[in-house]
Amino acid sequence: MGRPVRRRPEERVLIRGRLTTAQKRGLESILPLYAVPIDAPLDAAATFARRAPLGVEIGFGTGDALVQWAMENPDWNLLGVEVYPPGIGAAVNRLAELTISNVRIAPARAEAFIATALADGEAREFRIFFPDPWPKKRHAKRRLIQVEFVALLARKLESGGIVRLATDWDAYAEWSTVIFGGNAAFRSVEAADAAFARNVTRFERRGLRLGHRIHEQVYVRV
Ligand SMILES: C[S@@+](CC[C@H](N)C(=O)[O-])C[C@H]1O[C@@H](n2cnc3c(N)ncnc32)[C@H](O)[C@@H]1O
Repeated sequence: MGRPVRRRPEERVLIRGRLTTAQKRGLESILPLYAVPIDAPLDAAATFARRAPLGVEIGFGTGDALVQWAMENPDWNLLGVEVYPPGIGAAVNRLAELTISNVRIAPARAEAFIATALADGEAREFRIFFPDPWPKKRHAKRRLIQVEFVALLARKLESGGIVRLATDWDAYAEWSTVIFGGNAAFRSVEAADAAFARNVTRFERRGLRLGHRIHEQVYVRV
């Protein structure tokens, strides 16, 4: 555990994990170029200097999927939301090296950031890849996917917008199926019908090494 950055309790971001020199440099000198305010409504048109579909990746880790999304979809405005500083540092370094200009970063807890920063119906897509599994039953309340969070995503998505979710934990896949299934604003579609190219992420690689099956889920905002 590390040093908490003091904010309102629900927004507390824990600085944990050891930073490499490059990650530290990324956080100090590159993140300010990409960061958006985390406790105010986002002015997307001004932030990105254009109007474009808004995509949000939640818990991007070291940014494998976010970087790919940005490079393959330069006509989208993308936000990455992450709480883990080493991941954020690594991701912004890659964004800068690749001179990616259609991504902004929110170093924040997704629940509070999305509720505060996004207008209702503003997002076209949310991506959540390999959320922390919290496999023990008594820890299930710590999982990102919760009834209230899914209701929040529904509110912030435009009609026809989608949530893409991937997990290598069978129990998490069942859990999210039940929670999304219980929200009438979402319709599940076959992931194969909404296929898109996604490189293997860092945590996916770990799941594959452990012999886990990868579950891909897609939910459409009706
Ligand atoms: C298991 S990792 C997966 C990272 C990456 N998506 C991948 O596939 O390699 C889950 C990530 O979600 C982040 N995370 C967990 N809870 C979060 C929250 N409430 N808001 C934003 N990020 C969160 C963690 O810090 C971690 O980097």
